[in-house]
Amino acid sequence: MEELINRLKSGTYTKDDLVSALNIPDEEKFMPLFNLSEQICEEYFGKGVFIRGIIEYSNKCRKNCNYCGIRRGNEKVLRYLIKPEEIYKVAEKLKAQGVMTLVLQGGEDAESDPMLLDVIKQIRTKYEMAITISIGERPFEVYKQFKEAGADRFLLRIETTNPVLFKALHPDDDLEYRKKCLLWLKELGYQVGTGIMTGLPGQTMEMIAGDLLYFKELQPAMLGIGPFLPHEDTPLGNEKPKELFLTLKVLALIRIMLKNVNLPATTAMGTLDKDGRKKAMMYGANVFMPNYTPAPYRESYLLYDNKICVKEDCSNLCAGGIIKSAGKFVAQGRGDYKSF
Ligand code: 5AD
Ligand code: SF4
Repeated sequence: MEELINRLKSGTYTKDDLVSALNIPDEEKFMPLFNLSEQICEEYFGKGVFIRGIIEYSNKCRKNCNYCGIRRGNEKVLRYLIKPEEIYKVAEKLKAQGVMTLVLQGGEDAESDPMLLDVIKQIRTKYEMAITISIGERPFEVYKQFKEAGADRFLLRIETTNPVLFKALHPDDDLEYRKKCLLWLKELGYQVGTGIMTGLPGQTMEMIAGDLLYFKELQPAMLGIGPFLPHEDTPLGNEKPKELFLTLKVLALIRIMLKNVNLPATTAMGTLDKDGRKKAMMYGANVFMPNYTPAPYRESYLLYDNKICVKEDCSNLCAGGIIKSAGKFVAQGRGDYKSF
């Protein structure tokens, strides 16, 4: 164990080392690695946690990912597209609360791109805040238009880097194209966020170790990691989620491997375990993303069952409480990625 920790510390680890670390059976045995992760986090970020306000602006989606509650095949979903005026209202609220990042997330709804481009331009000129978009796959030219309109950051999870698992989950997608999108986004100067789901049906520790090595090579600005959670109206609706511990192990290993990367305590972690986000912030997460989607739309953006923060209006207040309970505080500023 000591040797494993030393190799992880010095960056001389192998893929087998990552598998061994992922296979550590209980939290107590993993604790030295959780502690190392948090120590590295504090070296780079102190005890500050950046807040990013997220609006789920559209739940329309042209894709049919097998895990996702808003996949196009789910006819029970009431589809919406939030009006620009409502988005500006949220931007104003964020500004008033000192939140410096707005995340616009949607299903893969390319038809709404002209509206979204306009919204980004407006926000860029009216409010001084970082804009992140999470809108799925597009051609290079479209990514370029969004960058020129003023988007600073882009989230596009790879979900898994294992070709067989990727194909089994994504009837419409090609892993190589997804990877190409991430390289384009980097080339265009976005701060790029990617990530995976942990505990996917059929996912092995070897596959996750492969994902970690891919992250090491890509050097993204942000990594969003969340446990897979079933949604009843999807092909994976009867699958069981794995325990939060696996997700926390992945989070800690990423912090140890990639040091200064932005790591959010995700909503899915909080859904799987009521203390999920708190634990994530105790073991290396430095970002929190409260849901700012206007209330009536939230219940139509259910990617998985029992999603938290849908009924309750937990925006910044709730975030502050959880951050404090993890022994941290709300950091000021945009929280841009800094390479060292
Ligand atoms: N469980 C957990 N996460 C999910 N996502 C989509 N569906 C699920 C699910 N059933 C995640 C994906 C996607 C992000 C926006 O939400 O990782 O990239
Ligand atoms: Fe659409 Fe994204 Fe859900 Fe896939 S994961 S179905 S692209 S919203």
